[in-house]
Amino acid sequence: MSEVRFDERVAIVTGAGGGLGRSHALLLAARGAKVVVNDLGGSLHGEGSDQAAAQKVVDEITAAGGTAVASFDGVDTPEGAAAIVQKALDAYGRVDVVINNAGILRDVSFHKMTHADWDSVLKVHLAGTYYVSHAAWAHMRDAGYGRIVNTSSAAGLYGNFGQANYAAAKLGIVGLTKTLAQEGAKKGIRANAIAPIARSRMTETILDEATLAKLEPTLVSPLVAYLASEGCASNGQVYAVGGGYVSRVAVVEGAGTMLSGEVTPESVAGAWAEIEDLSAAKPFANAMEAVGAALGKL
Ligand SMILES: NC(=O)c1ccc[n+]([C@@H]2O[C@H](COP(=O)([O-])OP(=O)(O)OC[C@H]3O[C@@H](n4cnc5c(N)ncnc54)[C@H](O)[C@@H]3O)[C@@H](O)[C@H]2O)c1
Repeated sequence: MSEVRFDERVAIVTGAGGGLGRSHALLLAARGAKVVVNDLGGSLHGEGSDQAAAQKVVDEITAAGGTAVASFDGVDTPEGAAAIVQKALDAYGRVDVVINNAGILRDVSFHKMTHADWDSVLKVHLAGTYYVSHAAWAHMRDAGYGRIVNTSSAAGLYGNFGQANYAAAKLGIVGLTKTLAQEGAKKGIRANAIAPIARSRMTETILDEATLAKLEPTLVSPLVAYLASEGCASNGQVYAVGGGYVSRVAVVEGAGTMLSGEVTPESVAGAWAEIEDLSAAKPFANAMEAVGAALGKL
């Protein structure tokens, strides 16, 4: 197995001032990438800003002999995202890799959720992933090369109590990733997503220390680096990752059933066991394949 390297590659890592993003940035830099360490430096809830977070990681990278520049813009506006990508272009002249990792939490049960809780989380996670990817997209297309790694979550894939805003954003990121993968394929751009579990300020109040000790962010970053590498052929996929565990996650559709005779609520109820049955379930590569399979049954 040849070493995964990023020499001459330029990578942007958003939200890289701490937690998972810091770990991704350190690993990419250690493997030769020139890294834009982006972080707004705000609170877990998305309030305030502090340049120290991103600068500290840049200092760590340069002290270790790597190459990095700090970016303090927010991903949650088109202007901020454009400035992040411009930072890569100004400093290093290209952008090969985008790791969309920045995030905040506004956890609250749905009946207490304010529109501000909803908007701010959707803005940072989903719009932020869109804005930064969009700002980098034309450069990647022109170069005929790009790797995008987005950050989803088990909360988005499966739902989670108190996280309606976060779950909606995180599953939105999956749809965005799969579409970027399909649109970018012919231009050498690949996009994948991870659903991580790791020790960070997001998890240290909800998991016990013994569990957190097994969940260092450094156990997630190797998958991110592999997905960001030239040699990885995966495109449009989602991977659960944490503590050394890695697995592909897929949306699957069962074999289903054709309702015979008049289609009524009662005929649906009568076929419920076959409708629910996932024993012959399979994933589809894209929407056309899935719709085509359904139409093929008619
Ligand atoms: N830790 C986990 O177990 C876990 C699980 C699932 C998903 N995630 C996701 O992983 C990513 C990293 O989270 P983490 O656990 O390392 O938490 P974290 O809070 O340490 O990292 C998030 C970083 O994003 C930065 N950020 C927030 N808003 C920003 C903005 N508008 N622009 C730029 N930077 C901004 C923060 O300052 C912070 O440094 C997030 O997208 C999170 O939702 C984490």
